[in-house]
Amino acid sequence: MGIEDKIKELLDKREKARMGGGPDRVASQHKKGKLTARERVEILLDEGSFEEFDMFVTHRSHDFGLDKEIYLSDGVVTGYGTIDGRLVFVFSQDFTVFGGSLSETYAQKICKVLDKAMKVGAPVIGINDSGGARIQEGVKSLGGYAEIFQRNIMASGVIPQISAIFGPCAGGAVYSPALTDFIIMNKLNSYMFVTGPKVVRTVTGEIVTAEELGGSNIHASKSGVAHLVSESEREGLLLIRKLLSYMPQNNLEEPPLCSCEDPIDRFDDAMNYIIPDNPNKPYDVKDIIHSFVDYSEFLEIQEHFAKNIVVGFARMNGQSVGIVANQPDYLAGVLDINSSRKGARFVRFCDAFNIPIITLVDVPGFLPGTAQEYGGVIVHGAKLMFAYGEATVPKITIVLRKAYGGAYDVMSSKHLRGDINYAWPSAEIAVMGPKGAIEVLESKEISLITSEEDKMKYLDQKEREYREKFANPYIAAKYGYIDDVIEPRSTRFRIIRALQALATKKDLNPPKKHSNIPL
Ligand code: HXC
Repeated sequence: MGIEDKIKELLDKREKARMGGGPDRVASQHKKGKLTARERVEILLDEGSFEEFDMFVTHRSHDFGLDKEIYLSDGVVTGYGTIDGRLVFVFSQDFTVFGGSLSETYAQKICKVLDKAMKVGAPVIGINDSGGARIQEGVKSLGGYAEIFQRNIMASGVIPQISAIFGPCAGGAVYSPALTDFIIMNKLNSYMFVTGPKVVRTVTGEIVTAEELGGSNIHASKSGVAHLVSESEREGLLLIRKLLSYMPQNNLEEPPLCSCEDPIDRFDDAMNYIIPDNPNKPYDVKDIIHSFVDYSEFLEIQEHFAKNIVVGFARMNGQSVGIVANQPDYLAGVLDINSSRKGARFVRFCDAFNIPIITLVDVPGFLPGTAQEYGGVIVHGAKLMFAYGEATVPKITIVLRKAYGGAYDVMSSKHLRGDINYAWPSAEIAVMGPKGAIEVLESKEISLITSEEDKMKYLDQKEREYREKFANPYIAAKYGYIDDVIEPRSTRFRIIRALQALATKKDLNPPKKHSNIPL
């Protein structure tokens, strides 16, 4: 064979590999409104940047007639490319080949990508669309999954890992995405569950659809498994590009610094009036976030889950920051099991990847009651406290209004190594809210008052006294727990100045194998 024939052979093979499971299956994929594995990679990466590995890999199975069914690439497209010019590694499962099911060689391809990404320190993006373990391969497939899991675990906190769910993701296969930092589900066609509807019905008798069991809506709002949901696959892929723009390449680098035209001294007078006079009236903390971040741009994470806490990424004078804020607009911003878990995981991500954390506090305390106690709110709340206390990135806290009880301590207080702790003049920092405090402190006196009217008057008077004495930022400021009481309109300026002052912050935790965060 001459060189021209050899090159033709190469090009033919490449063409064949690009066909995946063949035109019929590609057509069926498109008919479902899904893109193919390679089309997804093309959208995800900078144009022309994709370099593919292992196009010529095929499975090594002989059972069930598989030796007669061979596809180049074996159901997963792997390689590297760039996003905004920065290196990333990628694998994209190809549903047109054996339903994207995972074989031994398929797993090896994914492991190769994870190993390379770890060596060079670059993020990994996995696009999932698979029927799970390739049934014909049996335990080899299970072993393959575990090889991937082990690498996901080792890569955690070293390189960012992002999973897109653009099809089925069932059985043990869900654990690779679950081990990664962020999961993006497409609204249509995507679902995740440990056991599918048929097994659920057999084992528990419960009748449920795939959508109800593990669709994007469920994971975005009820379980919190999905961090972002996209309206289309294209939108999801573009969201991944955006998400990565806030992150460094690995844990030894700083996040990229963007140029910023938004003036640092952009004062917003409306902020002086945003907190209602009535302390029990809600407001939307996202209005405050939008007011002080660069260009009002805020990428919210887990928007529909545990809405009493808001977390997400933004930039301050071009620098990436993570924002954690109690949300008075939902359950009065109370801390509970889910909001603690959500906040803790986000704080830990930011800390692992050198992203400073800005915390906005307006929290009446932890949610009381048996449901929370039986669910282990103690341990879950401790997660958030642990995450803040362990974090060594710059931590800036602003108490907007309520900071009561244990929740005051938890929300990046000075005592948990908060670096710069500010309060707005509307801040109320105390052991508990006026109502609860008066009921405890004045219970004897109250019991002696016989008329209901006199009782109300007495309570009102005492509450007012308590509020004047304790429900303000100045006692905390007197002890240095609050570094300054700031004018709300100057919040952007003060945060940016604080970030500049903390740019070279170094803080170390004592050497240990690892901590024992209350899981
Ligand atoms: C081999 C598979 C497969 C699998 C699908 N296919 N899943 N081949 N192993 N796991 C093949 C089908 O035979 C079919 O081949 C093609 O992929 C497309 O599948 P369809 O069923 O036609 O597609 P659809 O109707 O869209 O249904 C998709 C599906 C369904 C819901 C994923 O295929 C399904 O339920 N598959 C089995 C899922 C499963 O139980 N997997 C094992 C889970 S346990 P042809 O040739 O007809 O195109 C597991 C353990 C992991 O994964 C543990 C890790 C620790």
